[in-house]
Amino acid sequence: TALELNWYEPMTFKFEGVTMTHYFTDNWEKVKNFKAKPDDVVIATYPKAGTTWMSEIVDQLFFGEIRRESSSPSIFDRVPFLEFCEDFQTGNTEQSLLTSPRLIKTHLPVQLVPQSFWEQNCRMIYVARNPKDIMVSYYHFDRMNKIQPDPGAWEEYIDKFNTGQLVFGSWYDHVQGWWEKSRSYSRICYVFFEDMREDPAREISRLCSFLGLSPNETQKKEVLRKTGFEEMKKSMADALSNNDEFDESVSPFMRKGIVGDWKNHFTVAQNEAFNEEYRKKMKESDLKFKMEI
Ligand code: A3P
Repeated sequence: TALELNWYEPMTFKFEGVTMTHYFTDNWEKVKNFKAKPDDVVIATYPKAGTTWMSEIVDQLFFGEIRRESSSPSIFDRVPFLEFCEDFQTGNTEQSLLTSPRLIKTHLPVQLVPQSFWEQNCRMIYVARNPKDIMVSYYHFDRMNKIQPDPGAWEEYIDKFNTGQLVFGSWYDHVQGWWEKSRSYSRICYVFFEDMREDPAREISRLCSFLGLSPNETQKKEVLRKTGFEEMKKSMADALSNNDEFDESVSPFMRKGIVGDWKNHFTVAQNEAFNEEYRKKMKESDLKFKMEI
């Protein structure tokens, strides 16, 4: 299609010290000056940490089926991507999606988040996922996503990850930056992908208290059911059918959704080398990740 021709593989460059592509910096003035509203809810992640999963959970908690049925089946429309959706930046969001609160997704490292969100004291949910599964997920995503740089060989991909050369920069800086911020800014709920896999009901309850929501048991069960991997894979199929940014024949967006798939990708030597690097880089931090559950 004509649209398809618009997508091309970008170069990466450093933007305020963070590896980026033009797709996320083209409208930086608009992003930087974005006007937050006090009830905005931000979902922030390093790519592949479970952004879409969290988006669907939060959308379901606030709106149930309403927005999916009446506004858009696609979670990418219901929860716009701050640094990517030009329509959203310029306020051209479809009227039916301007339900309050606005749910907004971002992959920005904490220091690049527009000032207005802090000034308005917005609630933010940060989802973190262990680095090994992130790498595997991101590798397959970079293969299938036309607006991401080609991942190259797996062996070198680990180096790129460790040296902050993947888009949105260093995972280490990202997770630690948001973690540190959550100590001084109390309206960040820091959630782990592994905990969501282990006990989604517990994590959803935690989210509800953070968001000031009190769904009854039936509603909670519904949210759990609708946001399970298989269920979402089915519902996303529709939403993604006319998404020409992704080539799902290369690798599906809803790939595996598990903890520990890294074991199928890392050789023993790669794993040992990575563990060593990880220990060094995380030495000062009290942030702990589960590599398996
Ligand atoms: P995998 O590639 O490991 O399967 P993001 O939305 O941040 O891009 O993250 C995508 C990752 O989250 C993918 O991981 C995807 O399968 C997983 N995911 C999406 N929805 C999920 C769900 N409902 N349950 C578990 N994992 C989910």
